[in-house]
Order: sequence, then C-alpha cells, then structure tokens
Amino acid sequence: MISIANPDLGQEEYERMEEVIDSGMLADGPEVRAFEDEFADFCGTDHAVATSNGTTALHAALEALGLSEGDRVVTTPLSFIASANAIRFVGAHPVFADIDPETYNLDPDVVREIVHNEPTDAILAVHLYGLPADMEALGDIAEEYDIPLIEDAAQAHGAEVDGQRVGSVGDVGCFSFYPTKNMTCGEGGMITTDDEALADRAASFVNHGRSEGYEHVRLGHNFRMTSVAAALGRVQLERLPEYNEQRRKNASQLTEGLYGASIQVPSEPDDKKHVYHQYTIRHEQRDGLKQHLKDHDVGTAVYYPRCLHEQPVYDHIDHSAPIAENAVDEVLSLPVHPGVSRDEIDKILDAVRSYEGVVRK
Ligand SMILES: Cc1ncc(COP(=O)(O)O)c(C=O)c1O
Repeated sequence: MISIANPDLGQEEYERMEEVIDSGMLADGPEVRAFEDEFADFCGTDHAVATSNGTTALHAALEALGLSEGDRVVTTPLSFIASANAIRFVGAHPVFADIDPETYNLDPDVVREIVHNEPTDAILAVHLYGLPADMEALGDIAEEYDIPLIEDAAQAHGAEVDGQRVGSVGDVGCFSFYPTKNMTCGEGGMITTDDEALADRAASFVNHGRSEGYEHVRLGHNFRMTSVAAALGRVQLERLPEYNEQRRKNASQLTEGLYGASIQVPSEPDDKKHVYHQYTIRHEQRDGLKQHLKDHDVGTAVYYPRCLHEQPVYDHIDHSAPIAENAVDEVLSLPVHPGVSRDEIDKILDAVRSYEGVVRK
C-alpha cells in the first residue's frame, strides 16, 4: 500500500535526540530557544514561541491577542477541528465563512460581507493543504476593520505569499509539527509574530502565566515544548526546503499525469507557493474512486469528511456554506509526501485513470 503519510526520520534525528537525553535537560531549555530562533529566522519573523502542539499554539496566540468571551472570529468551515476549537477555548465564537471552490481556502468576498454586517473581532485564515489563503484580500479587510488576522499555518510550513513565507504575513502565525505535517517533532507547535508584546504574552501563557521566576501574572497552562521535540524539530527544519521541493515535484507529476482526466486537480495561484501538505483532487464519485484506489494499494484520505459546522460539537451554529458542504463530499487526497517514488506516482496515476468514473475530457 502506498501510504498517505510517512514521516522521514534518520540518523541525525537520533543523534540530536541522544545529545539532549544525555544532557539531562529534557523539558523546556536552550534547545527549545534555539528551535524558536531558527524557526523565526525561517519564517522571517522577529519572534517565535514553541508550544506542545498546533492546537495549543492557536489557543495561546488567540489568548495573547486578547480575544475573549463573546468575541466573534471568522474562519473557514473546511479545516481540522482544532482551528475552531481554539476559538472556543478563549470563549469566543467561530463564524464560518464559505470557501473558494478552486483553492478550498476562505473566500474573501464572503468574509467581507460577514465582517461588514456584524461586529467581528478577528479573522482566522487556514492555509489548507499547504496553499496560502488569499492573504492580500483578507489583510485588506482586517486593516479596514482594524481586527487581527491570524494564520493557521499548521499545514503550510514554508509556503509563500508573494515570496513571503507564511507565518509572517498576518499578525500571528501558528504551526503544528504533528508527524503527518511537512516537518515533524512528534508533537509540537510554534507561534510566529513580529509583535514582541504578543510573543511575550504567548510565552507566558504557555508557561503557567509566568513573568519571571515564580511570579505568575496571568492564568496560564503548561503548553511547553520538550527539548527532545525541539531537537527533532531543528533537524527537520534543516530538511524542510528539500522536503517541500520533493512534494512540489511529486505534485507536478501527478497534475501532469491527470491532464485531460475528468478530475479537478489542485490550483496554485501565480502569487502563491503551494507546499502540498496534501495533494487533493476532486471527483463526483469520490467514494467509489477511494475504494478503487484502495483495491489498487493506493492509500488516500478525505480531508475533511464534514464541514466544521456539521460536526456534532458545532451543529447548533446556524451556518450555511454550500461550497464547502459540496467539497466535503468530493475531495480526496492522494499520496504526495517526499517518500513517494516516481514509480509509485505512476502506479497512483494508473490506478486513478483506470477508475470507470474517470473519463478523458
Ligand atoms: C489546519 C490545522 N490546524 C490545527 C491543527 C492542530 O495541530 P495539532 O494536531 O498539532 O494540535 C492541525 C493539525 O492537524 C491542522 O491541520
């Protein structure tokens, strides 16, 4: 079976983790500070704050922005549940805006309408599948209404908007290093920002609300990253550009091979650099195609089978997002990770093209 995800960990990761284990400093420490500095440099931000995972990065970022009880945050209904949960964790409410059918990211026109019609306290954009959201248009709205723009970049390490890396485009960026992501440290997260005060508040929140020593100036959590995770993350960050290039190469071979087939392939607007966390196609007979690929030993996944407002935890929220609601019935992600070989890509293409529902246009 060609797997949909396959984290690549080698000798260097073992050696760097061993050094940390030998040092005896396993929890927070200099290794984590070094990872923060290197990740901030990579994204082009002045600051980065490491966290225990992507969900806690989002939670801490929203808290540090001062979002709280009763606030309204516009976000996409097509994302992992954590994007919306983080909004609820600070007491705010998600407002789901529909998506663009080509990019699967927030449709800025819908966002503008919502922000224009009702008081809104922030916009949380998700760079779904590794493609940056329309940050120029969303940035204009955020500026006009004087509200923060948050980037959920959990799936988009190294993706770019006009040559600028995500995480540095909005007011604050949040990343996940879960094993299926473009780079991993087991479990981990990172907040990136140019705003020093925001970074300080986030760093305090993830460490029991500490200012220094045992002085606690706010309520906080233990959302800290471990040094063992940071050691892994530092090696993976060095490899990230190479991983992303291989993902892009695999994606372009898939797109080339699907040319002329009755399948919607991913789009990459001219001003964006896609890093293909997922290579997501769209087909009306998605479930049949998925089964057919399984029968041909090709692993696939559906991201996501339901919109967030269709999840039991959020289904009391009265929202309509017809484009996203259609997309969840038709999207299917194919293996694109750096471990997929040229032969495997050919096998994936043969399997897709041999499905009876896929015809030449
Ligand atoms: C878009 C998005 N946001 C947030 C998260 C949460 O990250 P984590 O699983 O590290 O908590 C994920 C991870 O799956 C994600 O894909």
